[in-house]
Amino acid sequence: MIDLTGRDFLSSLDFTPEEVRGLLAFARDIKSGRVRPNLAGKVASLLFFNPSVRTRVSCESAMARFGGAGITLNPGKDTWNFECGEGVVMDQNTQEHVRELAPVLSRMGHLVGIRKSELITVGLDKAAVSSSYAELAKDEFLHRFAEFAEVPVINLESNRWHPLQGLADALTLQEKLGEPRGKKYVLTWTWHPKSLPVATPHSQLLAACDLGMDVTLLHPQGWGLEPEVVRRARARAESQGGRLSETHDSDAALKGAVVVCAKEWGSLDYYGRFEEEQRAKEPLRARWMVDATKMHSTDDALFLHCLPVRRNVVVSDAVLNSTRSAVIDEAENRLWTAAAVFGALAGG
Ligand code: CP
Repeated sequence: MIDLTGRDFLSSLDFTPEEVRGLLAFARDIKSGRVRPNLAGKVASLLFFNPSVRTRVSCESAMARFGGAGITLNPGKDTWNFECGEGVVMDQNTQEHVRELAPVLSRMGHLVGIRKSELITVGLDKAAVSSSYAELAKDEFLHRFAEFAEVPVINLESNRWHPLQGLADALTLQEKLGEPRGKKYVLTWTWHPKSLPVATPHSQLLAACDLGMDVTLLHPQGWGLEPEVVRRARARAESQGGRLSETHDSDAALKGAVVVCAKEWGSLDYYGRFEEEQRAKEPLRARWMVDATKMHSTDDALFLHCLPVRRNVVVSDAVLNSTRSAVIDEAENRLWTAAAVFGALAGG
């Protein structure tokens, strides 16, 4: 049983590929009923600044099933508004600083989870009005909170990372493929009317790389992921005997793929220039939905998507309803991987 007692999980890079494997083994053991994470009597405070179905329910369910409790807070709705800036004169609409909030929640519980992404709330298009992507990618609130917390802090999706989604994808890949190492995995951009955040594809990319897969990142020109994340993911893939290539050529990417993971995300190149992005994106709509024709050009690939998904925009009904779609298993694995993370960080 892996012991990561006291560690934070703020980024998909916080654990080594070996530690990730340990967490996945723990999740498999929990799922099969061989072991139980030691969460009895433990409390997780779960701060959701943004909407959620899977993350919220998987976290609350993981705590409840193993004898603990998850307490969900919706900051600004059923709590005070929180501040994290240093030296801020709090005479506007924030009432509590993380310097107090983090230690207080630490004294009352054993774990804290935080979902906070300005990019989820307003999109890559409008966020730029007040902040650059580089500024938002610092995930300042999350890191400031962790600085003052006395218990492990878990990222439930920030501007840059969605590490629990990455772990659930990795568990699904192991279950479906046996040994994923060397097998061809394609993470494909898909068209979407909004400019969605890059946190989830960042963590999905890293998950496949950590498993040593033959990873292809497929997207139209102008819709690449953050170059530093791609660089780190490539290094992790190579350290595990895999590789990562990037292409705009859909036919070449899909040929021989055993997994197609679809994800929609906004352009960092067009960041803050939403109308320009919309104009550039419109001609891509028809070609960048995952449909049966695309799946037929793979090696009978499994289809993954983190959900929620817009049917017949991101992926066709035929693909989503097919026996090769693993999206429900992928979502279920959010539960088992959350239980593993909570158990490992909270002391076994
Ligand atoms: N995949 C995912 O994080 O789902 P929710 O946004 O519903 O939590």
